[in-house]
Amino acid sequence: MNLKDIVNRSEIPIPWTEGEKIPWDEPAFSQRMLREHLSQEHDAASRRFAIIDQHVTWIHTTLLKEQPSRLLDLGCGPGFYVSRLAILGHTCTGVDFSPASIEYAKKRNEEQYTGINLFQHDVRTFEYGSGYDLVMLIYGEFNTFRKPDARSILKKAQDALKEDGRLLIELNSYSCLHNFGLTAPGWHAAPGGLFSAQPYLFLEESFWNEELQAATRRMYVIDAASGDVQQMADNHQAYTKDDLRLMAIECGFTKVEFHANWPGQMDDSGDYLLMVCQK
Ligand SMILES: C[S@@+](CC[C@H](N)C(=O)[O-])C[C@H]1O[C@@H](n2cnc3c(N)ncnc32)[C@H](O)[C@@H]1O
Repeated sequence: MNLKDIVNRSEIPIPWTEGEKIPWDEPAFSQRMLREHLSQEHDAASRRFAIIDQHVTWIHTTLLKEQPSRLLDLGCGPGFYVSRLAILGHTCTGVDFSPASIEYAKKRNEEQYTGINLFQHDVRTFEYGSGYDLVMLIYGEFNTFRKPDARSILKKAQDALKEDGRLLIELNSYSCLHNFGLTAPGWHAAPGGLFSAQPYLFLEESFWNEELQAATRRMYVIDAASGDVQQMADNHQAYTKDDLRLMAIECGFTKVEFHANWPGQMDDSGDYLLMVCQK
């Protein structure tokens, strides 16, 4: 792809047709993304550890009632939640398709003797197993799946839970994604960073598709030396609470609760929504 292709691009993309999501599972990208997960300067890929500690305390005390439990973390990244929960006595399984994140999580698991089962796998095709007290999917990734995949994740989680088990999903709120889709185009230059080890220009433009209620972000990474262009896109399905409740009930859950934020958190941006589904 070259600069002319950017000039001649179609005006408005149809969600999920120009790419699914940023290449979390591509080895070199995942290695660079691991740096972002580990950074304590920002909350971009994973939240900072002080915040994760508070989330884990809430999961341990409120959701799991401090009882040793079996849990499955879908899209676990470098394992920041499962490693803490395992230290608190829970039996944990983590799944993520990022090679660098899973390698990091496995290394920490060996060093800390935490006995976590870690799998590098796509959560859409992974066999979840059964007998879990809690299945969780944290930090907005649920919205990045096409609706049929999101529904299938809910159904597989429902099947994998014990009779009184629960599913915890942290989503991006409808308003957050609507605003994201209406964000003005932007660009930045980097001497090397998340999108390439070499100097690059990064252009992005976002779109809101009213019919599908989805936001698409189109990204171009332009290599500063050669002018070569790499195109990416990511997509976010917006849901109202009513959409989510209906989908969860259709997948067999009996009760659905929402929290506007992680209990006890000061962040009042309204960008996130916690959904807790009871089997
Ligand atoms: C925003 S990060 C959150 C990571 C972790 N939950 C946390 O809060 O620290 C999203 C994670 O989902 C993973 N992911 C995205 N799509 C996936 C898929 N289809 N299968 C497995 N993992 C996926 C990414 O590799 C990434 O680690």
